Amino acid sequence: MIEIVPENPALHAEAIEDLFDRTFGPGHFAKTAERLREYSRSLPEINRVALAGGKVVGVCRVWPLVVGAARTPALFYGPVAVDPAYRGNFLSLRITEAALEAGKAAGWPAAVLIGAHSLFGKAGFALVPKGRLSFPGPQDPGRVMVKDLAGDASLLEGAVTAA
Ligand SMILES: CC(C)(COP(=O)(O)OP(=O)(O)OC[C@H]1O[C@@H](n2cnc3c(N)ncnc32)[C@H](O)[C@@H]1OP(=O)(O)O)[C@@H](O)C(=O)NCCC(=O)NCCS
Repeated sequence: MIEIVPENPALHAEAIEDLFDRTFGPGHFAKTAERLREYSRSLPEINRVALAGGKVVGVCRVWPLVVGAARTPALFYGPVAVDPAYRGNFLSLRITEAALEAGKAAGWPAAVLIGAHSLFGKAGFALVPKGRLSFPGPQDPGRVMVKDLAGDASLLEGAVTAA
């Protein structure tokens, strides 16, 4: 049985880093998304981990952002990763959806995610019109998505930076 719980850094952080090492290749830290995370801290109360027998088998981490001249707050979702032995059941969507509910319950207006729309569109993310959001590095516009949480994600416009 798999349970999905908030991250407890003292219990889970090391296993999460190990999961990232195993699931993402060495190019991971070169990604534009990493520029939004490198001097920031994720939000353990909104992050979600999947546990199987107490072992971390999946994760979605969540980071505070500000967007545009208005410095609109938003949450950045990712990395999302699932242990290869537990793939094939859309566990990534269950974890991401739990983290989306937590972000909404905490009153955050909107979510941003960079990834495959074919997968994360199933969690309600919609592609952003080209040019509406810019990132601190090159980014394929076909992978940039937003979703309403407690507010209106269509209001997000401009440069996306770490909060
Ligand atoms: C992406 C990931 C989290 C999905 O795990 P999962 O929820 O178990 O996914 P499943 O194996 O159940 O696959 C669900 C669907 O997503 C698709 N999918 C899986 N990984 C994908 C990816 N990286 N890009 C696009 N589609 C993907 C599968 O083909 C499948 O679609 P189908 O049913 O039409 O064949 C997992 O493959 C992983 O950890 N990958 C490495 C890390 C990564 O690339 N994370 C995403 C970017 S943040």
